[in-house]
Amino acid sequence: MSQDTQKAIAGKRAAQFVENDMIVGIGSGSTIAHVITELGRRVAEENLKIVGVPTSERTRRTAAKLGIPMYNVDDVDQIDLTIDGADQIDDSFAAIKGGGAALLWEKIVAVNSKRNIWVIDESKRVEKLTQYLPVEVIPYGSDQLFRRLENDGLQPTWRLDQNGNPVRTDSANFLIDLHLPAIESPQDLSHLLSEMVGVVEDGLFLNIVNQVVIGTDTDSKIIDV
Ligand code: A5P
Repeated sequence: MSQDTQKAIAGKRAAQFVENDMIVGIGSGSTIAHVITELGRRVAEENLKIVGVPTSERTRRTAAKLGIPMYNVDDVDQIDLTIDGADQIDDSFAAIKGGGAALLWEKIVAVNSKRNIWVIDESKRVEKLTQYLPVEVIPYGSDQLFRRLENDGLQPTWRLDQNGNPVRTDSANFLIDLHLPAIESPQDLSHLLSEMVGVVEDGLFLNIVNQVVIGTDTDSKIIDV
């Protein structure tokens, strides 16, 4: 069965964790698109009353179109539950996020949430993180930063759009992707990056998740972390 079917199964299941009167952080990406659809259905058909906080402008638009009231993260007290996707999750439940360029808002929403659920298909469970690591950087001085990352052996590439221009995040920053063989210590790497001037945020999400919903071909598995 296809990855998208697994995403759809997991997304629908994860949306069941949302209860009336919750303030819900809503993630970004193709898996979360299924969560948004199901939440929209529940709002329309089950009279579910929620407020959503988006992790990207795209999510804000999609959710609002389905009748989910959307607030900014600074307009709410605390978020009850955030449901988001991930690019890879390792054995210690560290994740890489940001394949869809939304890592900064995703991390801000995640750390301001009482609970975080990640929704993935089976292919994203890995022993060690091996996918490229997105890093959001301030445009000013970013060529210098890029060279420093190169000199440090972190194998950076610019994230470009189809016209060859740098992708701009929702905060108008650039993205640099690091192509590392395997991330042996996510904590050390995240610490190293956080000390580089010009780095706004990296896509390593550590000590954040409470539950993972994994879509399989027939059902979903839920892991309590
Ligand atoms: C967005 O920037 C990402 O963090 C997504 O959550 C992640 O890339 C998962 O995306 P898909 O659900 O599209 O695989």
